[in-house]
Amino acid sequence: MMLNRKIVIAILCAMSFALSCTQHNNVRAQNISLIPAPVSLKQEPGHFLLTNTTTISVPAKQPEVARIAQYLIDKIKPATGYTLTSSEGGKAHITFTLNAKPDARLGKEGYTLHTEAGKVDIAANTPAGLFYGVQTFLQLLPEEIESTTPVRDVEWKAAAVTILDYPRFGWRGQMFDVSRHFFTKEYVKKYIDRMARYKMNRFHWHLTDDNGWRVEIKSLPRLTSVGAWRVPRVGTFGSNEPPKAGEAATDGGFYTQADIKEIVQYAKDRYIEVLPEIDVPGHSMAALASYPELSVTNDTTLKVNPGSSFSTWFGNGKFEMHLDNTFDPTDEKVYQFLDKVFTEIAAMFPFEYIHMGGDECYKGFWERDKGVQAFMKKKNIKNGEELQAYFVKRVDRIIQSKKKKMMGWDEILEGGIAPGAAVMSWRGTKGGIEASHLKHPVVMSPAPVYYLDMYQGERSIEPPVYSSARLREVYTFNLLPAGIDTTYVLGAQGNLWTEQIPTEPQVEYMTYPRALAMAESFWTPEKHKSWEDFLPRVEDHFKRLDAAHINYARSIYDPIIAVKKNAAGKLLIELSTEVPGLDIYYTVDNTIPNQYYPRYTAPVEYPDGADNFRLITYRKGEPIGHLISLKTEDLEKRVKK
Ligand code: ACM
Repeated sequence: MMLNRKIVIAILCAMSFALSCTQHNNVRAQNISLIPAPVSLKQEPGHFLLTNTTTISVPAKQPEVARIAQYLIDKIKPATGYTLTSSEGGKAHITFTLNAKPDARLGKEGYTLHTEAGKVDIAANTPAGLFYGVQTFLQLLPEEIESTTPVRDVEWKAAAVTILDYPRFGWRGQMFDVSRHFFTKEYVKKYIDRMARYKMNRFHWHLTDDNGWRVEIKSLPRLTSVGAWRVPRVGTFGSNEPPKAGEAATDGGFYTQADIKEIVQYAKDRYIEVLPEIDVPGHSMAALASYPELSVTNDTTLKVNPGSSFSTWFGNGKFEMHLDNTFDPTDEKVYQFLDKVFTEIAAMFPFEYIHMGGDECYKGFWERDKGVQAFMKKKNIKNGEELQAYFVKRVDRIIQSKKKKMMGWDEILEGGIAPGAAVMSWRGTKGGIEASHLKHPVVMSPAPVYYLDMYQGERSIEPPVYSSARLREVYTFNLLPAGIDTTYVLGAQGNLWTEQIPTEPQVEYMTYPRALAMAESFWTPEKHKSWEDFLPRVEDHFKRLDAAHINYARSIYDPIIAVKKNAAGKLLIELSTEVPGLDIYYTVDNTIPNQYYPRYTAPVEYPDGADNFRLITYRKGEPIGHLISLKTEDLEKRVKK
């Protein structure tokens, strides 16, 4: 089907040769498959052919632009084997131009890109715009350009186009949690580079939590000598065995200040700002295992948590912690500690914001403590929420004293928001709407849809997480809900929590392709977005990700299974697919389904006495999804009441 579509579009383009083929929201024309889709794209007949003698020209005395040209040279070299040369000014095939008079349409990140036989022109008001023009140009080249080793027999053609492009939002973020599982500096760079390939520009780095403190603070060495290490566990995070007496804490790691500097520069070279998160006052078991005197319980037996259970969740966001992972908001020592932390964090991270967490703080240990009760009475603080608001306001003052702005999860709205604070809306979109009405800046990252740790396909073969976010839901989600004051919306973000993500391949599996849906939602004008158009482009990008050895998920090919009981009390199984045009074959007799077995056409009444419902998707006679096998009791559990 993909090929047919390409051919049809090619024929249409050929027929309208004299007029040229203009496209706006369909950016998967002949050999073109861009993500995120640009604001406007006009395809012309012909192409630019990249060769070993292609030259690049950059403006004189613009080292930053020369660096971007070098980035392009470095990206092109592994697959093609070509070493392109760049020079200042003069005639060349590929020309980078910084607009002498700013083009008002492009803003700070937009660009124009024109390609034709023998010529590529990339122009922008800023180096960032040129960088995004380079990303689009790379996507015009064949998918093999992503290969890290030379690929022979490829014609390195880029279709002839004229593109005008700029982003919908200035904040296009991805969050990476390196506390629940530690990831190396090299891998963090790889993650950042791939973000840049899709024009994301904010890397939110969740550096601290109950399971590891990952950033060196020179004035507080125990944070990393103790707080970065936990006992090793490989089970299901949340149900792991607690640390045993005397067991060595050998699992973990942290980034030195030199590592951080290197990563911040690496991100900056890709026009990505790094937002550090130090999550307080809750989520702080790693810090308190290092400095137990900073909680009200002063629990000297506390250990960095290895993914063992220490809380009970009651639903509706209500919970109880059985171990104290919370800083004491009444203790001046805590603010002295945080002043040291934020002094060093502010020096390491040039971005204007610092994130202080503020989420899921359990107030029970505070409320039961006599000293805290006396403090609250004296200060006329009525409840735990107001006490947390007192803490957040103190942190806000500390962060402001370092000439930075504070951001926090939407709990910082409770008990009264600190002046100047920005809010990251995660418990749905409510917090974002509220913060915008209070005239505070907002980043939309609502769970579950923008939570990259949610499972994305058939539950029985995805990681054990409490909720799902399929690619289609992520793509079609309206990130500007009714009632929000859009003036205060900085942009949006996808969050990769890593409780159930212990490895690099799993990071990629959970991130892609959903980050592509987010990249398009955050960049492309809403009116140009189309799921039907996006999906085949995603499939084209699967080939790019294959070439780059990125372990993206193919969960879109697995069926959506809904189970009901019919009037006779029998299980009725309804199947559908996210991707159109798939065939589903199933069995109920313990055999393995394939194209010789029944094809799904209507809801299946599950026969009494059957053990398993098995199914698999096919496309054009070839298996494309996983073999899924559900036991009768699994089906019973799924019955929609
Ligand atoms: C969060 O997911 N606790 C921000």
